[in-house]
Amino acid sequence: MISKNTIQKVFETALVEEVIGDFVQLKKSGSNFKGLSPFSEERTPSFMVSPAKQIWKDFSSGKGGTVITFLMEHEQYTYPEAIKYIANKYNIEVEETQKTADQIIEENEKESLFLISNYAKNYFKKNLFLEEGKTIALSYLKERGFDDLSIEKFEIGYSIKKNDDFSSTSIKAGYKSNYLEKTGLIIVKESSNIDRFRGRIIFPIRSMSGRVLGFGGRILGVSKNIAKYINSPESLIYQKSKVLYGIYESKQSIVKEDNCYLVEGYTDVIKMHQSGISNVVSSSGTALTENQIRLISRLTKNITVVFDGDDAGSRATLRGIDLILEQGVNVKICNLPKNEDPDSFVSGKNIEEIKSYFNDNSKDFIVYKASLLNKSDNDPVKKAAAIRDMVESISKISDQIKREIYVKECSLIMDISEQVLYSTLAQIRKKDFNSQNKKPKRKFESISLVKGDKNNIEINALYELEKKIIEILLLYGNELIDFEEEVFSQNEQGLTETNLSKRSLKVFEKVYMDLHIDEMEFSNDNFKKIYFNIIECFNENKEINIDKFINKLSETQQLEVTNIIMDNEKYFLHNWEKNNIYPKSKKNSLAQFTIETILNLRCFLIDKKVNGFKDKDLNKNPDSILEEVVNYSNLKKLLSEKLNRVL
Ligand code: CTP
Ligand code: MN
Repeated sequence: MISKNTIQKVFETALVEEVIGDFVQLKKSGSNFKGLSPFSEERTPSFMVSPAKQIWKDFSSGKGGTVITFLMEHEQYTYPEAIKYIANKYNIEVEETQKTADQIIEENEKESLFLISNYAKNYFKKNLFLEEGKTIALSYLKERGFDDLSIEKFEIGYSIKKNDDFSSTSIKAGYKSNYLEKTGLIIVKESSNIDRFRGRIIFPIRSMSGRVLGFGGRILGVSKNIAKYINSPESLIYQKSKVLYGIYESKQSIVKEDNCYLVEGYTDVIKMHQSGISNVVSSSGTALTENQIRLISRLTKNITVVFDGDDAGSRATLRGIDLILEQGVNVKICNLPKNEDPDSFVSGKNIEEIKSYFNDNSKDFIVYKASLLNKSDNDPVKKAAAIRDMVESISKISDQIKREIYVKECSLIMDISEQVLYSTLAQIRKKDFNSQNKKPKRKFESISLVKGDKNNIEINALYELEKKIIEILLLYGNELIDFEEEVFSQNEQGLTETNLSKRSLKVFEKVYMDLHIDEMEFSNDNFKKIYFNIIECFNENKEINIDKFINKLSETQQLEVTNIIMDNEKYFLHNWEKNNIYPKSKKNSLAQFTIETILNLRCFLIDKKVNGFKDKDLNKNPDSILEEVVNYSNLKKLLSEKLNRVL
C-alpha cells in the first residue's frame, strides 16, 4: 500500500487546475476555470474547475469531485494509480507501507512479469522492421490493409521464426528464465528454451491503464494444421476472463460515445479504429464473462454486440446478452451481412457508411430475438420457446421501469398479452429467487422518482431537505446571524409565557442545536457522514477548507459535496457577472432559509418515525407505542405551527 505520508504529500502538492489542464483546455473565468467537457461532445463550456476549493464539476455529465476522481473518471485509473500518476507528475517519491513477506514476493513477481512483457513488446515491435519481419510480416500486414498509424497505435510486432531468438536475447539482457517461462513467452523443454510465438504476428494485450499483460500471436496466412492464433497462457498478470482487447485504446471514446461495440477478434478492433470508430473492444474469441462486462460498465452502460455474418457466431453470444442485462447494462445487437466480420465489413467504406449501417441495424435484444424466430417457420412450439426465452432475458433486468417497457415491447412484437408475460416473468423470478436466495442480493438501481409513487416522492423530498442543510452548512456555516427564538419564562402566576428574542449564533451552531433537540438523525448515510465531518471541522478549526475537508470523504460523498458547491457557482459559466445578472443571493435571507429548512426536515423525520411505528407489532406493547406516537404528533403540530409563522 502507498503510505499515508505520500498520499498527504500528493494532496498538498497537486493543483487540480494543473492536473486537469493536461487533459482539458481551461480558460480563466472569474475565480474559476472553465472548458469543454471531456466527457461529452459540446460547443459551449460546461466544465468547471475551482482552484480555491480544489474541485471540479462537469455540468453536462454530472460528474465531479477532486483531482483524484478526475483521473479515475477520465483515465479510468484506480485510486492508487491516480496517486502514483500525480506523484510522478510532481516528482514525489512514493513510499510503500510494510507488507508481509508473501505480499512482497507476489508483488515482485508480478512486477517482474510486467517488466518482461513490456520488454517483449518492444522487442517484437522492433523485429517488424528488421529484415525477416519486413519481408514477411510487415508486408502481410500491409497487404491486409493495416496502415502505419494502426501498427504504431496497437504496437503490433513480429516474433522471429528461429526457435530461441527471443529466449536467448532476453536472457542475455538479464531477464530470468524462470519469469520468462511464467509469462508463457518461452517454453522450457528438457533444459532448452523455445519461443512460444515464433514466426507469428504479435498483438500485445493491454490493461485499462495501458500495461502489457499478454499477447496474441497470429500465423502468417492460412495453414491447415496449425492454430491460427495462440495466446499467452494464464499467469499472475494475464487472466483472459478479465481482459478485453482494445480497452486501453478505446476507453476515452467509449466514455464520449457512451456506447461500446463488442466484436470478436483482434483485427476487428484495429480495423474499426482505423476507419474512425474507436469505441470498440474484443473478448478475443472467448465467451463474454462477468468481469469483462464490469470492465466496460465502468465506462458506459450501453453495449452493442456486433456479430459476424454467420449464424454460428450469434448462438455462442446469446448467453452473453443475459449476462450483460444482469449487470444493469443495456444491450443492442448488430448483425453484419453474410460472410462479413467487422474487419472485412469496414474495409473500403467511409465512416458515414459504417456509422449509418450500425445505426440502422442495431436492434435491442427483444427485437433481435424476435428476428431470429421470424427466419424459421411459424411453428407454435418454437414461438412459445422464443417468447419464454425473451421473458427469461427480461427477468435479468433489475430496473423495474425498463422491465415494464420490455414487457410491452415483447407483447407487441410477439402478439401476446402483457398479462401472460407478467405471470411468466413472475414464475421465472420466483424460480431464480429460490435458486439464488443463498447468494447475496442482486444490487438494484438507485431509486427513481415515479409519478404517483408516494414512497419515492417522500424519499426524494427528504433527500433534498437533507442536502439543503448540508448546503447551508458548507456555504454559510460560519456566518454569525441573529436568529429569532422563543424564550419560555414563568410569570408571577406561575404560567408559562413565550416571548420572541434575538440571539446571535453561528449558522452551524443553530443547525446543530435544532437537529439535536429531538434526537433526529439524517436518513441518508452519506449526508450523515458529511454532516458529522462538517460539525467536527467547525468545532476544531472554526472554518472549513473545502480542499482539505473533501479528502476525508468517500467518493460518493465527495460528489455530493462537489455538486452542492459547484451548483452555486454555475452561473459563472455564462458570463452572467458581466451582464450583472446574479441569481438572488440566499445570504440576504439566510436566517429565514435556515430555520425553514430545519423545521421542514424535522417534520419529515418525525413523519418517518411515526410511520415506522405503524409497522411495529402493536400487540406487544400498545400503550408505550401509542404514547410515543401521540408525543411525536404533538411535536409535529408544534413544528408545523412554527413553520407557518416563519413562512
Ligand atoms: N481466436 C483464438 N484462437 C484461435 C482462433 C481465434 O484465440 N485459434 C480468437 C482471436 O482473438 C481472434 C478471435 O478469436 O481474434 C476471432 O477469431 P477469428 O474470427 O477466427 O479471427 P479474426 O480475428 O477474424 O482474425 P483474422 O482476421 O486474422 O483471420
Ligand atoms: Mn477476420
